[in-house]
Amino acid sequence: MIPDSVKSEVENLRELIRYHNRLYYAEDRNEISDGEYDALMQRLMELESRWPELETEDSPTHRVGSQPLSRFPSILWDPPMLSLGNVFSAEEFHEFNNRIKRELDLNADPAYSVEPKLDGLAVALVYENGVLVRAGTRGDGREGEDVTPNARTLRSIPLKLSSDPSVNLVVRGEVIFRKNDFHKMNRERKLQGLEQFINPRNAASGSLRQLDSRVTASRPLSFIAYGTARWPEGIASQHSLYKYLSRIGIPVNPCNSVCRGVDEVENACHRLEENREELPWDIDGAVIKLNRASLQEMMGTLSRSPRWATAWKFKAEEAVTQLIDIEIQVGRSGKLTPVARLEPVFVGGVTVSSATLHNEDELRRKDARPGDTVIVRRAGDVIPEVVRSLGRSEGERGKSFEFPGSCPVCHGPVAREEDASAHRCMNPSCPAKLRESLFHWGSRDALDIEGLGSKLAEQLVDKEIVRDVSDLYSITRSQLASLDRMGDKSAENLIEELEKSLNANLQRFITGLGIPGIGRTVSGLLSGRFSDLHEIMRADVDEFLTIEGIGPVLADNLYRFFNEKITRDVVNRLLNAGFRPGGSGVDGYKPLNGLTVVFTGGISLPRSEVRGMAEEAGAKVTGSVSIRTDIVVAGPGAGDKLKKARELGVEIISEDDFLKRINGDGGIGDGGN
Ligand code: IVH
Repeated sequence: MIPDSVKSEVENLRELIRYHNRLYYAEDRNEISDGEYDALMQRLMELESRWPELETEDSPTHRVGSQPLSRFPSILWDPPMLSLGNVFSAEEFHEFNNRIKRELDLNADPAYSVEPKLDGLAVALVYENGVLVRAGTRGDGREGEDVTPNARTLRSIPLKLSSDPSVNLVVRGEVIFRKNDFHKMNRERKLQGLEQFINPRNAASGSLRQLDSRVTASRPLSFIAYGTARWPEGIASQHSLYKYLSRIGIPVNPCNSVCRGVDEVENACHRLEENREELPWDIDGAVIKLNRASLQEMMGTLSRSPRWATAWKFKAEEAVTQLIDIEIQVGRSGKLTPVARLEPVFVGGVTVSSATLHNEDELRRKDARPGDTVIVRRAGDVIPEVVRSLGRSEGERGKSFEFPGSCPVCHGPVAREEDASAHRCMNPSCPAKLRESLFHWGSRDALDIEGLGSKLAEQLVDKEIVRDVSDLYSITRSQLASLDRMGDKSAENLIEELEKSLNANLQRFITGLGIPGIGRTVSGLLSGRFSDLHEIMRADVDEFLTIEGIGPVLADNLYRFFNEKITRDVVNRLLNAGFRPGGSGVDGYKPLNGLTVVFTGGISLPRSEVRGMAEEAGAKVTGSVSIRTDIVVAGPGAGDKLKKARELGVEIISEDDFLKRINGDGGIGDGGN
């Protein structure tokens, strides 16, 4: 019997990890450090291995990162593009080496390839008959963004390989900025009065993921390969792979070396760390890979990372400086972050004048006060942080910082999250978070509004067309037409999508509200328990607490959201716009609402008919299976699409099941939780 507390901890961890994955992989930013992220993942893996019944197909431990934004066509990776496990010390590397020796039954240490861990953006290049045909980002590892026109603009990426005979090959590597290219570009941008990039990694990612490839072409990006999706014929080691790639025109890292024995590996890693500043690109560690292909294959991979390689992360750089003041910043997700304003100090390759103090608990623990001398740390791309305060050598210390009880931007109510560390502003109209709220409202788990991306959300807020989500439902065509990149057709489509979203069920509606800690899963619990929104709005804290999976923090967040005037008004305006969110079986209930369905194989009814039926039931029908597919209806003789659906863990049903579903006598109608 699994304790309820474990179940809810696992759910919370998954929600949190997905949230941070989305920020990191899809939006290119982070709110927590790699270490904090690793700790969340570690804890989830621990609980899942202790309670295997809790493992689910869609747990973040089974997938690297999250889905891409809808801006680029998507591209599928098979085998998936993996991430790497970490070691932080010689002892941890010894353990890694011992595990390999034990499992492969080796008497001596094997040979390893030791490589700089470049800090850029993972990309794969697809060559067919020696010609570059596609290029894409890693995305969540299985599905990335197709950035072919952009990749073609990089001079270090050959459009044709110099191989004879020509080959089919998928090359994987990192798109980066060399430090001098980066600084030169920033100097030029400064002269032109343009905003400077924060660091090479952000700049590389932002430059490659441009909708207009002419912009990418104007940025001096580089590509360096570190592997292939499959071993080319006749290549038996990492080292010979690099020689081969180099021969056919693919750039590889000149600092890669082959080492035997743990001492040699350690020395090579230390050398890289010591010379870090002098290297032409930013690195955040070393990557250590078994050199022999056969040994790599014997070790195999986990769902997220290979067992034949690991990353040796370098220590973050630290410096001492003076804390001038503490301010509260409100992020786009409404998170209130205490930020230290510092006497500028050079650390980790950049001058730092502000650093995060993370949250109230951290701030109290470190007891950092204005006027104190503090230690600041910066690792790679991670936001600089105040590690600790050394107090004050002379004179009396300043006062402890008081965390505000309301949002410093809009004065809206502030709630503490389930994990009890972060504070978030709950006011969906707070300008600092409105953009994020709109984007979230349109996201796939919420109202699934195609076309409501982050760029559009930004314009709607900046031009003050939208002051809270309910304003979306009174936007006019002419208002939309005044926006950048919005043609008549896109405006028309968006208005249609918005109208369609009015039919959303209770689970999607609640998810869309973005109440702290209340994602798709908890919203599902609420829609299972309450029959419509009015019941939820009338409920008190105790009623929420009777639902398994909802603890005191979430119950309080829910109660406050529906009872504070500012947030309750938004909900009422949404109801006035035409929403009638009920649980299952209320008016306008569409059994397949928001789901993406694919038909494959022999279906007895004509395709046009089943398509019409699915659309009538609220589904979107597409022709190919991807991770966005919710249901595959498979008939006799189904082939590749069925296979793909199985691989991706997509729900597969028969024609009969489908007919039952749309008639409302099978399934819960929203694909479950
Ligand atoms: S091998 C199968 N080698 O680090 C393992 N990755 O944290 C896949 N990276 O996604 C990666 N330098 O983008 C490998 N020499 C190197 C690397 C490297 C940088 C990046 C890569 C990967 C990430 C994992």
